[in-house]
Amino acid sequence: MCGIVGYIGGKSASPILLDGLKKLEYRGYDSAGIAVFENNSVEICKTKGRIADLEKKLESEGEFSGCVGIGHTRWATHGAPDDINAHPHKGGNGRITLVHNGIIENYIELKIMLEQKGYKFVSQTDTEVLAHLFDFFYNGDSLEAMSKVMKMVRGSYATAVLIEDRPDEIIAARKDSPLIVGIGENENFLASDIPAVLKYTRDCYLLDDNQIALLTKDTIKLYDINLNEVHKDVYHVTWDVEAAEKGGYDHFMKKEIAEQPKTVRDTLSPRIKDGRVAIDELSLTDEEIKNIGTIHIVACGSAWHVGMAARYIIEKLAQIPCEVDLASEFRYRNPIVRPNDVCIVISQSGETADTLAALREAKSKGAKAVSIVNVVASTIARESDDVIYTMAGPEIAVATTKAFSAQLNVAYLLAIRFAKAKGLIAEQDERKLCEDMLKLPEIIEKLLGMDDFLKGLAKKYVDSENVFFIGRGLDYAISLEGSLKLKEISYIHSEAYAAGELKHGTISLIEEGTPVFAVATQSDLLEKTLGNIKEVKARGAQVIALVGENHNAADEFADDIIRVPEINDILMPSLTVIPLQIFAYYMALGRGCDVDKPRNLAKSVTVE
Ligand code: F6R
Repeated sequence: MCGIVGYIGGKSASPILLDGLKKLEYRGYDSAGIAVFENNSVEICKTKGRIADLEKKLESEGEFSGCVGIGHTRWATHGAPDDINAHPHKGGNGRITLVHNGIIENYIELKIMLEQKGYKFVSQTDTEVLAHLFDFFYNGDSLEAMSKVMKMVRGSYATAVLIEDRPDEIIAARKDSPLIVGIGENENFLASDIPAVLKYTRDCYLLDDNQIALLTKDTIKLYDINLNEVHKDVYHVTWDVEAAEKGGYDHFMKKEIAEQPKTVRDTLSPRIKDGRVAIDELSLTDEEIKNIGTIHIVACGSAWHVGMAARYIIEKLAQIPCEVDLASEFRYRNPIVRPNDVCIVISQSGETADTLAALREAKSKGAKAVSIVNVVASTIARESDDVIYTMAGPEIAVATTKAFSAQLNVAYLLAIRFAKAKGLIAEQDERKLCEDMLKLPEIIEKLLGMDDFLKGLAKKYVDSENVFFIGRGLDYAISLEGSLKLKEISYIHSEAYAAGELKHGTISLIEEGTPVFAVATQSDLLEKTLGNIKEVKARGAQVIALVGENHNAADEFADDIIRVPEINDILMPSLTVIPLQIFAYYMALGRGCDVDKPRNLAKSVTVE
C-alpha cells in the first residue's frame, strides 16, 4: 500500500508530484506529502487527509518551485494517519528525506540501535528508521549508503531518497513493493505504478527486488544490492492514458462495471481459437496436466472468491482435486504441496503481499505456479512459471469489478484446458461451452441495462443494517462476492453463507425485515436452495431472489426478484455478479459513501 512518486528534471516538481499522487491515491489515502529541493535545502509539506488536502495546504503555505522532489500517499500501518506520521520523513539532522511504501519488520531493534547512537525520533512510523539509518551509513556515497541500508533492514520497501548535499539526484530502491522508473527527456520519474507517469512517458524500467535506481535529470543507472550495474530492457506501455481516467462516469467503479463486456471479450477471444480453448501462455503439457496431484488456488479477498468458483468448475470439468486457500493462511500453515501439484495464484494487482508469499511457498515446495494477473509485469506475474493476463486494463476503484469478471473467465478457460488434456470433455461440448462463453459479453451488456431497476432496489434497502447472502455451489461463491462488494463500499454489515449452513447458527440473526439475497441459479441445487429460502422467509426475512429468467419456483417466497438470462450453469457466476455489483454501487451512493475509495482500504495490499 502507499504510493510513491519522484521527479527530477527542468520543470517545477510539485505539480508533477501532485498529479502523480492523484493517480496513485487508490493505493492509500489517509495522508500525503511531498518534499522538494528549494535552494539547496529540502522543504516538506505534508498533511493528514487526501491529495486535495495537501494541495490546499500547499496553496496556503506557499507553493514550491524546485525541480527535484518526491511524494507519498499513505495507508497507515505504523502510527495513526496524522501530520507527523505522514511521509516524507527526515533522517539525521534533516540531511536525508525519504518516502517509503512497505513495512520494516526489524524497525524496533534498528530504532533502539539508532537511539543509542543519538538519533531522535519524532513519529511512530517504521519509515523514520529508514531515514535515520540512511543518514547513519551516508558518508558522501549515496549508493553505498543505500546498499548498506538494504542489507540491514528486513521487510518490504519501495523507497525514494533525497540527500541534502546531492541536489541533482534521487536514489530509490525496492524489495517486495513495486517501483518503476519513467524515462523522460532531460527529466526522469519514479512511481509505484505506471499511471502516475503515463502523462509524461510510455517508457519505463520495472525494478526487480533488491535493485537500486540512481536518477539524475539526464541519466538513470540501475544497480543490484551489491552495487553491480544492472541493464534492463525498457518496458513500453501500450495502453492509453484514458484507460486510467473516469471518462465521463461519476465514479471509476461505475465505469469499470460498464467495461465488463469488453473485459470479458478481450480476455476470452485471444484464447478461443476456431471455437476451442487455446491458452498459449500455459506451458503445462497434456502429460503434466494428467499428472497433477492437487491444484492449490491461493488468493485474497475477491480474487479468493474467484478461486472458490474455480474450484467448483475445475473439479466438475477436469476432476482434479482443488484446495482453495486464503493466501494469508496458506503461507503460514506449512501446506502439503507436492512437486506434481500446481498452484493457481489469482491477483488483480500482482503485488498483494500474502499472495506473493503464498506463490513463493508453493514454488519452494516444487509446485508449478500459474498466475491469473491483471497488472502486466507485476511481481506475481514475473515470479510465476506461467502467467495468464486478464485483459481488464487499469482498475482504479478500490472495489474490484472488471478484474473479478476477467479472472472468472480465465478460470473457465483453464478448467476446459485441463478437462481436454484429461480427455474428459468431448469436442462438441468444448465447442458449445466456448460458444456460450463468447455470448457472455453481450449478455453482460444486457444486464447493465438493469441499472434503473437495481437503483430502485437499492433505494428500498438503503437503510438496512444487516444484509445476508445465501447460495450453494457456484452461487455460494457469488454470494461471497456480492456480500463483500456491499459491505466494503456501503459499510452495511453483510455476511454470505453457504445456504445449507445458515441453520447451524447464523439463522438466529434473521428477523423481521432482514434482507436476504438468495442466489439460486444452479439447476441441480435449486430445490435445496429453495428449501433454505423458505427457512429464512419463515423467520421474517425479505428475500431478494437472484434466479435464471426461466425459473419461477422462488417467485412465491421472494419479495423482489432479479432475473438473469440463462446460460450453461457453470457460466452463470459471470452474469449473477453483475447485478450484485450494481446494487452495491447504488447502496453505497445512497448512503453518501466514497464509492471509489472506501474507508480503511487500499487497492494494492502490499503489507501482510
Ligand atoms: C475487493 C477487493 C479485494 C481484492 C484483494 C486482492 O473488492 O478488491 O478484496 O480482491 O485485496 O487483491 P489482488 O487481486 O490485487 O491480489
